Amino acid sequence: MHKVSIFDTTLRDGEQAPGFSMGVDEKIKMAIQLEKLNVDVIEAGFPISSEGDFNAVAEISRKVKGPEIAGLARASEKDIARAWEALKNSPHPRIHTFIATSPIHMKYKLKMEPDEVYERAIKAVKFARKFTDNIEFSAEDATRSEPEFLIRILNGVIKAGARIVNIPDTVGYTTPEEFSKLILFIKSRIKDAVISVHCHNDLGLASANSLAAIKSGARQVECTINGIGERAGNAALEEIVMALKTRKRSFQCTTEIDTTQLYPTSRLLSSITGVEVQPNKAIVGKNAFAHEAGIHQDGILKKQSTYEIMKPADIGLPSNSLVLGKHSGRHAFRTRINALGYEFTRPQLNTLFAKFKRLADKKKEIYDADLEELITEEFYRVNQMYHFESANFAGGSDMIPVATVQIKINKKSYKEVGYGDGAVDAVYNAIKKMTKKNCRLVHFHISSITKGSDAQGKVTVQIEEDGKEATGQSTHTDIVIASARAFVQALNRLDMKNRLR
Ligand code: KIV
Ligand code: ZN
Repeated sequence: MHKVSIFDTTLRDGEQAPGFSMGVDEKIKMAIQLEKLNVDVIEAGFPISSEGDFNAVAEISRKVKGPEIAGLARASEKDIARAWEALKNSPHPRIHTFIATSPIHMKYKLKMEPDEVYERAIKAVKFARKFTDNIEFSAEDATRSEPEFLIRILNGVIKAGARIVNIPDTVGYTTPEEFSKLILFIKSRIKDAVISVHCHNDLGLASANSLAAIKSGARQVECTINGIGERAGNAALEEIVMALKTRKRSFQCTTEIDTTQLYPTSRLLSSITGVEVQPNKAIVGKNAFAHEAGIHQDGILKKQSTYEIMKPADIGLPSNSLVLGKHSGRHAFRTRINALGYEFTRPQLNTLFAKFKRLADKKKEIYDADLEELITEEFYRVNQMYHFESANFAGGSDMIPVATVQIKINKKSYKEVGYGDGAVDAVYNAIKKMTKKNCRLVHFHISSITKGSDAQGKVTVQIEEDGKEATGQSTHTDIVIASARAFVQALNRLDMKNRLR
């Protein structure tokens, strides 16, 4: 087995894409998570590009001790000196310097002759060598470069002190077969350096190209969480790592990534940038472990490997999700009802299943809250414990948020005042006082179901008490009212579950 080093460039190539920029504190948070994921190298930024990037690289170099920290620099002394200034406090600093080597980039972008580019690259590596022996050189647009010129420049920089030579497919142009041949060719013509690859996803081939390169001898791969990066993005770290793990025998390569951190890392990035991954994104998309077809759900429940090549737990997902919908069968329905904490007799289940099928014909996806609503309607609506009556609240920049809430408990009205971090928190605290409930809010989600500032907000809450969970959902133009009603509904369901036992 060969080890493949994972060079994460989420904070550099990923962050430079529109919509993904991060502040220094956010980059540090992400770097700490990448350390937990156990990546080998974190490319923390491009220090000369801005004060913010410089500070982020400097802070990450001070705080993150495990992985190597790389800083990007063009092949110029000014860039390299600035990168070193930011990196110098890292226990494992790496200078990553680059210059374009393709005819099109040299002629139109750099306006330099190939010989000048060669000299510039050698000079840059020699200069970087004054600071550290951990130097990576990238031949930008390598896949559109003249192969013989590429070999000449790679051998030159290795002689000058580069330890890693990176072969970027800067414009996402290559194909797996072609890239594999290029890597084999480079491997046969250079020695004493690690071959790295860096693929962009313009044709949707970034992960496939990276994996083809690994098969041909690349031993470092540059990639990003969720595949973010310039234009269509970079190769997705989670895809490469899970392909190597799942098809180990085929690749004969491993990584040291703690794969159970893949999902948490993906979620953290989405929450920092506010950009969700597409639902069908490999490995970390919402649907990657979701099964809706009845035959698939039945198969999964009988034996997971019928329709899953990886276990959800391997990437840090607690379980797969069987999304109930019109294709779902009785088996999946009963399993979900039981998982929600309900046990019903066969005739009761038959009644519920018939209602569920009618609902599924109208509504595409049936969530836990929908199921609980069906159960409430069928068995418990008449004697609900709690009824929401009213809520008034006040807050603002200079006052502690306060709410007065009125609810009925067992048909008797109660009124209470609550304070909190915000209006919703104040309302929840007032309700908790009246109901004497010490439940924990597990999940709180607001979405808008219509457009405009007067949109209807849909609030979904999930609460937990003594190991039992319940959800509540409500829609209102005022999200605080919707939140209060959803909370009261969840309390009723919790009460219902307690009464079932
Ligand atoms: O895509 C690219 O060529 C790069 C280099 C700077 C490595 O990001
Ligand atoms: Zn790139």
